Amino acid sequence: MYGIVNKAIEDLVIANFGEDKWEAVKSRSGVDVDFFISNEPYDDDITYQLAGAVGEEMNMPVEKVLEAFGEWWILKTGKEKYGGLMEAGGSNLRDFLINLPIFHNRVMLIYPKLTPPEFKTSHIEANSIHIHYFSKRHGLQEFVRGLLSGLGKMYNTPVEVELIQSRDEGSNHEVFKVSW
Ligand code: HEM
Repeated sequence: MYGIVNKAIEDLVIANFGEDKWEAVKSRSGVDVDFFISNEPYDDDITYQLAGAVGEEMNMPVEKVLEAFGEWWILKTGKEKYGGLMEAGGSNLRDFLINLPIFHNRVMLIYPKLTPPEFKTSHIEANSIHIHYFSKRHGLQEFVRGLLSGLGKMYNTPVEVELIQSRDEGSNHEVFKVSW
């Protein structure tokens, strides 16, 4: 994944726990990179190793790390570094989610070598929607849960995010029901 992702994990750890904790996470992870360059692609393993090391260092299941990182990605990385892009996604939560399937098309203009997730929508109601998440990567479903709840916070719209279908149970993708 592009360095921006690893950099965001670094920012999350430093903002919440300080520089020393980040150094501890890095040495625990075995990742031998001094600093991440946002627009340079890195091996996915680096991201997984960092997330795993944060979990071990904080005594937290890695799923909880990924969920917290999803919220951070929306509320800090997205809103603060790519405010225009986030705003163009929609003027309210429902519109943003309806537009989600095409969101990474614009991200690809900034990061051309992106391997983006694929999203589809169904069951679009006044107060809920089903978000279908397809990915070549494994183990990121709790990251998606955090992203979806982060979007709720961004739009000041309290949400409930429910995983109703998953690759763990033999499906070929995850389905989240988002209600508000
Ligand atoms: C300005 C906002 C955003 C930017 C700049 C961005 C950029 C990126 C980048 C660079 C990656 C790593 C993939 C790679 O390097 O190959 C990524 C992955 C991902 N993004 Fe976004 N993204 C944004 C918003 C969102 C939103 C709003 C969602 C969903 C609610 C989302 C869902 C994901 C997921 C789930 C992945 C993991 C990849 C996978 O599952 O295969 N992103 N994004």
